[in-house]
Amino acid sequence: MKTETTIQGLTASLSPARSARKIIGFVPTMGNLHEGHLNLVREARKLCDVVVVSIFVNPIQFGPNEDFDNYPRTLEQDSHLLADVGCDIIFAPTVEQMYGNKPRLTNISVSEITNDLCGLQRPGHFDGVAVVVTKLFNIVQPNFAFFGQKDYQQLAVIRQFVRDLNIPLEVIGVPITRAEDGLALSSRNGYLSEENRKIAPTIFQTLKAAEQELHQGVALAEVLENIKQKLTQAGFIVDYVEARTPELQKIEAFDQDVVLFIAAKLGNTRLIDNLQIAYTA
Ligand code: PAF
Repeated sequence: MKTETTIQGLTASLSPARSARKIIGFVPTMGNLHEGHLNLVREARKLCDVVVVSIFVNPIQFGPNEDFDNYPRTLEQDSHLLADVGCDIIFAPTVEQMYGNKPRLTNISVSEITNDLCGLQRPGHFDGVAVVVTKLFNIVQPNFAFFGQKDYQQLAVIRQFVRDLNIPLEVIGVPITRAEDGLALSSRNGYLSEENRKIAPTIFQTLKAAEQELHQGVALAEVLENIKQKLTQAGFIVDYVEARTPELQKIEAFDQDVVLFIAAKLGNTRLIDNLQIAYTA
């Protein structure tokens, strides 16, 4: 496994694979890897000849009061994990390598689906993701790119601009990886205190209970209210509990497939999760 820190170095490393028309798989990450990321790499390994993983904590997707400075940077540990799951090339550029030192005048902004859910609390976040992911796509030029369904809205935004801008690759969404107690794996889980780590699986428990309620015919609005109450009682500060169609359109009743979305704070840690529920008439 190689680690490249420059665009030039990465291009040179990928050149033989490109000449041989090998299938290139790409997993963009911000590092501090866990089983969720490793499952993305495993999926990439199944489909592709060469697997590139980027590790880059992207400053422009963090708000002024978010955790950019404190975001865990664990390149050495990440490298060992990636070697074990068959990554071929790590791309770990500096901020200067990615953004240079001249002002960036171009933005990539996806409308509608970003003015909702996490986009409301994190203005500019998805623009920052869209810019960096587009830059990474242009640098790596993969055939397939892999993203986790935990960041469902992010995945929808990426699918949208890939389609809108005819970016020549296929986006693959990979199901959420959960701890044994149901907590969706996230680099931010590491911020939870021991006590809050025990409370955190309540999010998934409320989602599973909601699924049952919906199948029993409880009205969608009541189901969402029940989730809010349970989370608040458990000590969360709820940011949102929402239902959308799989395409992120608003939905009033469980009369088609639905995705339930939760964002809630436990202490200083903001957790998100979602559950897709199939409609059966
Ligand atoms: O999901 C993430 O880790 C980041 O948002 C991504 C896609 C690597 C872009 O910085």
